Amino acid sequence: MAVPSGIAALLISSFLLLFFLSSPSSANEGNILVTGDVLASDSELSVDNAAFVMQSDCNLVLYKEGRGFQSNTSGSSTKCSLTLSDYGQLIIRDYQGSFIWSSKTRKHPQGQYAAVLQPDGEVGIYGPAVWSTPLLFSNEVKTAGVDVKSAAGVDEKISAAAGNSAPNLLLSSGVLNVGSKLASRDYALEVTKECGLRLTKSAHNNTVVWESPISSYSSSAAGENCFARLNFHGQLSILDDNYGQLWSTAAAAGEGKYVLAVKINGQATIYGPCIWTTAAE
Ligand SMILES: *[C@@H]1O[C@H](CO)[C@@H](O)[C@H](O)[C@H]1NC(C)=O
Ligand SMILES: *[C@@H]1O[C@H](CO)[C@@H](O)[C@H](O)[C@H]1NC(C)=O
Repeated sequence: MAVPSGIAALLISSFLLLFFLSSPSSANEGNILVTGDVLASDSELSVDNAAFVMQSDCNLVLYKEGRGFQSNTSGSSTKCSLTLSDYGQLIIRDYQGSFIWSSKTRKHPQGQYAAVLQPDGEVGIYGPAVWSTPLLFSNEVKTAGVDVKSAAGVDEKISAAAGNSAPNLLLSSGVLNVGSKLASRDYALEVTKECGLRLTKSAHNNTVVWESPISSYSSSAAGENCFARLNFHGQLSILDDNYGQLWSTAAAAGEGKYVLAVKINGQATIYGPCIWTTAAE
């Protein structure tokens, strides 16, 4: 069926307009933007000492102590939003969907990426995803309006890896001990006394949504001093007190910096290596 091209263009542009207007401003947890998320105009990722802001003037700015970063796109358009492509590029588009800016990265494989405002105040792009717990089929992803603190116990004392603590992230070389956990709103990932990893939904009486297989060795001999560690090849392992490996995620990927993120949709995902950082811009 032939549609006059003027009308088609109008339809397409109003569809785009509708699409961009109705996009939820769903940055994942406050410090991470994954492929598929939208950081709307006037919103930000933030950690204690830094903020990565998609400003209403269309400039993308990292505010931190010392050297920051900006896209230098102030005044380019209005109602700009930030997304992360499935090739790992940060992309700014305006309210009409017109391209404004993207981060310069070499061609990387298609997949799921994550832009992380790290505890050190720099933004890193990690990916593609090398491992993940299964996607849960639930409506819970829609509970984006919940008060983060009351919902997930995120404000409990969470002693994640020393030196790179963020309640929902574990970076390469980071360690998760028994009794500490990573958490994002409703979901928490922890190392159990039985030397397993367990992902639970805290708002539902700690329903277990995923669990690593527990070997007979680990439950009998490993004791209570196991820990999980993310290495520089993107592998998350459970180790006993003698560094004996009890379990590990998939085969090693290329060397680099990786990040394990517990996300608000109930998935724990490992992204990496780091392919871009504001520190190098
Ligand atoms: C923005 O402008 C500053 C000053 O000219 C420059 O140092 C910086 O590299 C620019 N940022 C980008 C992303 O190009
Ligand atoms: C949690 O457990 C309590 C007591 O066992 C029960 O009354 C409540 O309905 C449970 N809540 C959910 C969300 O399963």
